[in-house]
Amino acid sequence: MEYRPLGRTGMQVSVLCLGCMMFGGRTEPDESMAIIDRAIDAGINFVDTANVYSRGRSEEVTGEALKRSGKRDRIVLATKVHGRMADDDPNAQGNSRRHIIAQCEASLRRLQTDYIDLYQIHRPQSSIPIDETLRALDDLIRAGKVRYIGASTFTGWQLVESLWVAKELGLNRFVCEQPPYHILDRRIERELLPMLQTYGFGVIPWSPLAAGLLTGKYQRNQPKPEGSRFGAMWESWPHIRSRYVDTFFDVVEGLAPLAEAKDITLAQFSLAWCIRQPGVTSPIIGPRTMTQLEDNLGAVEVEISDEDRAAVDALVPPGLMVSPFYEADFGPHPHRV
Ligand SMILES: NC(=O)c1ccc[n+]([C@@H]2O[C@H](COP(=O)([O-])OP(=O)(O)OC[C@H]3O[C@@H](n4cnc5c(N)ncnc54)[C@H](OP(=O)(O)O)[C@@H]3O)[C@@H](O)[C@H]2O)c1
Repeated sequence: MEYRPLGRTGMQVSVLCLGCMMFGGRTEPDESMAIIDRAIDAGINFVDTANVYSRGRSEEVTGEALKRSGKRDRIVLATKVHGRMADDDPNAQGNSRRHIIAQCEASLRRLQTDYIDLYQIHRPQSSIPIDETLRALDDLIRAGKVRYIGASTFTGWQLVESLWVAKELGLNRFVCEQPPYHILDRRIERELLPMLQTYGFGVIPWSPLAAGLLTGKYQRNQPKPEGSRFGAMWESWPHIRSRYVDTFFDVVEGLAPLAEAKDITLAQFSLAWCIRQPGVTSPIIGPRTMTQLEDNLGAVEVEISDEDRAAVDALVPPGLMVSPFYEADFGPHPHRV
């Protein structure tokens, strides 16, 4: 396994981060724990979850697996706060001091640990001054509950504002950003990624396989595979339908020969491309099964040549995305609550 520094921190993280969004949800606890064990055995030392994944169940399963492994102190454990945690309480969500501190305590309990290595703000919230959010996070660092802080799906200006406020107030700054980034959606290359490189942020892309679209298992005019995310979520999560368009199949069909030429899966090619993109620290994989984890791990060994990069650029030019409907991934416009 290869390790890289997480932004300007002194911390080394594996080039794959294990995302735990499926664990305790679509993946049963026993299989989830086996996947976490296997990932650690393979050298992954970076694990990402969130309070909101299955409303705390992902953190519980992840915490239990790390406790049983006896290797918690070797892991860079990341979690997030922002999403709604109770339906009947207006304060049970967002980036307020109150919610951040309450949820940090709850995450520590669910994860069965007394510190979080990387505590991330899951989405920006412009209705709350960034000062309040940063002060709460800084207090958690000073109290020894959190080591580093990060952001997710922020815009460039919001991150630069957070640096300026942190400097002005003498607070700890965000050390990394977690953006959506994969071959079908290269928008962060326009402005966000150069900004993150300039200011020394770690970059940990989410959905590097476009939620499974870049694995090659979805075929034009064919039924969606049994148990797949797009099959399972088609009715309950209608916005994903807008990604399932002809332009997506055009790209995937264009990528297939590149993977075949290397005798690897399309998922491995797509993941390796993301790992090797300039500025990227560690894409977050989201295996639902052990077989998927094994396949994902193979990407670490794959080399991406200049010719491969040029072939990808010809299918999806730098800075562009395949379907305008991916805009939904950036969440509500930052000026809206
Ligand atoms: N910050 C944020 O807002 C945010 C948002 C989303 C995710 N995340 C983080 O990023 C992590 C990864 O996100 P993601 O799950 O969307 O990542 P992804 O790698 O784009 O998609 C993973 C999904 O693709 C399918 N898959 C993976 N490998 C496969 C293979 N070899 N063959 C066939 N299918 C395969 C599986 O879905 P099926 O088998 O079910 O089809 C799997 O759950 C999450 O766990 C979470 O930690 C963060």
